This record gives sequence, structure tokens and C-alpha cells, in this order.
Amino acid sequence: MEKKILNVGVISCSGMAEGHMKGVIAHPQAKLVAVCDIDLEKAKTVAARRGVSRVYQDYKELLAQPDIDAVIIVTPDHLHREMAVAALEAGKHVLCEKPLALNRDDLQAIADAVKKSDKKFMVGQIARYTPSFKLAKDIMNRGEIGDIVFIETEYAHNYEKILKACEDWKADPARWRSNPERNGVVGGGCHAVDLLRWLIGADPEEVRAYSTKKIFTDLPYDDTHIALMKFPNNIMTKVFISVSCKRNYTMRTCIYGTKGTIVCDNKNAQMSVYRSEIAGATVGSLIPDKPNSEVEVKYPVAINNHNATAEFEEFASIVLNDKEVSTTVYEGAKTVAACFAICEAAEKGQPVIPDYNF
Ligand SMILES: NC(=O)c1ccc[n+]([C@@H]2O[C@H](COP(=O)([O-])OP(=O)(O)OC[C@H]3O[C@@H](n4cnc5c(N)ncnc54)[C@H](O)[C@@H]3O)[C@@H](O)[C@H]2O)c1
Repeated sequence: MEKKILNVGVISCSGMAEGHMKGVIAHPQAKLVAVCDIDLEKAKTVAARRGVSRVYQDYKELLAQPDIDAVIIVTPDHLHREMAVAALEAGKHVLCEKPLALNRDDLQAIADAVKKSDKKFMVGQIARYTPSFKLAKDIMNRGEIGDIVFIETEYAHNYEKILKACEDWKADPARWRSNPERNGVVGGGCHAVDLLRWLIGADPEEVRAYSTKKIFTDLPYDDTHIALMKFPNNIMTKVFISVSCKRNYTMRTCIYGTKGTIVCDNKNAQMSVYRSEIAGATVGSLIPDKPNSEVEVKYPVAINNHNATAEFEEFASIVLNDKEVSTTVYEGAKTVAACFAICEAAEKGQPVIPDYNF
């Protein structure tokens, strides 16, 4: 029997889009057949580098190609709605970058289009493919750290090189990150919020938050947020979100359970699990009557915080084998809805109950 090959087009030729292209090229049952970017010169350069002969400036022309089975949308966030809906209407399977969209209307329009379509639609919540976070979730699921009590995580990034603050972001397409709807919480913090939702397997029920702006003072939104979110089963969480902090990108995460603790990160080649006893081993104390300290097990983990290859492998497997999508349009929409609640709670100085009705 002939092996089914998935023909893929990528919309955008940015660095992140090239990460997706690498994932397609590496897949034995997928072929990168076309790329598109409004910047045609950039698209031609990337196409030549990736060995692709079909190059488009207008994404609608790419969508009109009957042999293209699936598209990956890697354009600025405010364009996701228009492109996702058009791709589904053109009969393509879609892998769409996070955040799914920037307002409720756009989220709803994409959800409605998915409902009407018989094609697969997956949201690229890439933290779900970070090796340390995958291992942490496996350890949690095996019950090794008991019931979850508290999780703290973060999206700590310095956007200095990519964020060009301006009043009128629409006047210059490169300034799309200055769109107030594309604030640090929805645009970047969605990674940390989605990580919490995915690790816990539930949605935050109530959100409290504070925010400030001390570094990128000319931005039309606060550059730093802190949120406390209560999940079902009394799981407490804390998220720190900054797009201006003076350090390298990191999502340090501590997961505290009734039997143990996991400390991990997306930028560390090692993660730790602490328990009072692991595989029969304990740590004795030299001081009589003092409690034992915790046993620490260190796991080596690959650093791969943009694991677009693993993300595409899952997408291709879903499409080729007609499997259920795990990171559905509703998953993407609920993550953004929780981010809206953080922004609202910080603005109002009051707790907010997120609205997950899509
Ligand atoms: N998963 C992750 O970790 C991650 C990381 C970075 C970016 N992203 C997401 O990827 C998307 C793109 O971000 P980026 O950093 O690559 O942005 P970018 O600004 O670097 O690149 C965007 C590209 O889209 C092109 N473009 C703009 N309008 C277009 C149009 N109408 N048709 C075709 N091409 C168009 C631009 O010319 C540019 O090449 C965003 O949704 C962003 O949130 C995700």
C-alpha cells in the first residue's frame, strides 16, 4: 500500500515559522510543499533555504492549492482569526500558533468555523512539548508527589529586541506586539497559563492579579503581571509574567504535592524531584531527633523550549490516523480566556471568574 504523505504549507517565514518548517521536513510522512509571507523577498530566501519551490505572497493563493492538505499559521496573533477561518473553509487541516486569538469575537469565530468543518484544528501550545514539563506531568500522573497543593510558574522574557513600542501599531506591521490586545499576558503569558491548565487538567475558577510598568514605560500595557489562580480541588497557583525582565527567557516551575515536589524549567538541562523517601532511599540526619531531609533525584532533560518538531509529529499523527485532537480550539480559547481574566483582575483590583463559554 502506498504510504500517505501529508502536503503542508506554512504561512509566514519568520524564525518561528522556520522552526515549524524543520518539523515538517523531518517528518517521514510529510512534505513541505509551499511557503507564504507578505514579505516576498523573505519568503523566497526561506523557500530556497528549505528547498521549497512554491512561494506565495498572498496566503489565499496558497489556500487555493488543491494538493495542500494542511497549513501551519505562524503570523502575528491578530491575523489568526482571518487565516484560520479561511483555511478551514478551504478544506485544510490547521495547526495554528498560540495565542489562538486576541479577543472573544475572534476566539468564537474560530471555534464556530472548527465546528462547521470536518478538518482537524490544533492550537500550538508548545510548552506541552517541552521535555522537562512532559516528564513533570508524567511524574504527577503517576501519583509520585501525591495530591497537588500549589504550583508556581512564570513567563519571564525580555522583549527588548522584538518589541517596538508605538502609539499606532497598525501603521507598521513589524510593531504588532504593541497592540494593546496583544499584551504580555495574552501574547506570552499564555504559555505559563496553558502549562498550568495542562498540568492540572482543569481550568482556573477564580483569578486575582496585580500589574505594573517600570521598564517598558512607553508600552500601551503593563509589562509585568502577577496572578494568583484557584483551580478545582483547592489547587493554588501563582504566575509571574514579564516581557521586560532583565534576564534570559525562562519558565521556572515548582510543583508542590502532598508527598513531594518537582522543580523544573524550560531552560535547564536538569530537573529535580524531592520526596522523603524514593525507592527505599532516605536521607538520615546527623542530629538526633531532627527530621530527615528530603531525597533529591535529579533527572537529565533535553533543553528544547520550542519543540516544534514534537508538536508537528502529534499534529501529523492526528491527521494521518484520524485521531482526536488534544489541544483543541476550546483548549486554546480557554487558555486565552484565563489570560483575559488576569488582565481584568489586575485592572479592576478585584477577583475575576473567567468566562469559558465558547
Ligand atoms: N510557540 C512559541 O513559542 C512562539 C514563539 C514565537 C512566536 N510565536 C507565535 O508565532 C506567531 C508569529 O510570531 P513571530 O515571532 O514569528 O513573528 P514575526 O513578526 O517574527 O514574524 C511574522 C511573519 O509573518 C509575516 N506576515 C505578516 N502578515 C502576513 C500576512 N498577511 N500574510 C503572510 N505573512 C504575513 C511577516 O512578514 C513575518 O515574516 C505569533 O502568533 C506568535 O505569538 C510562538
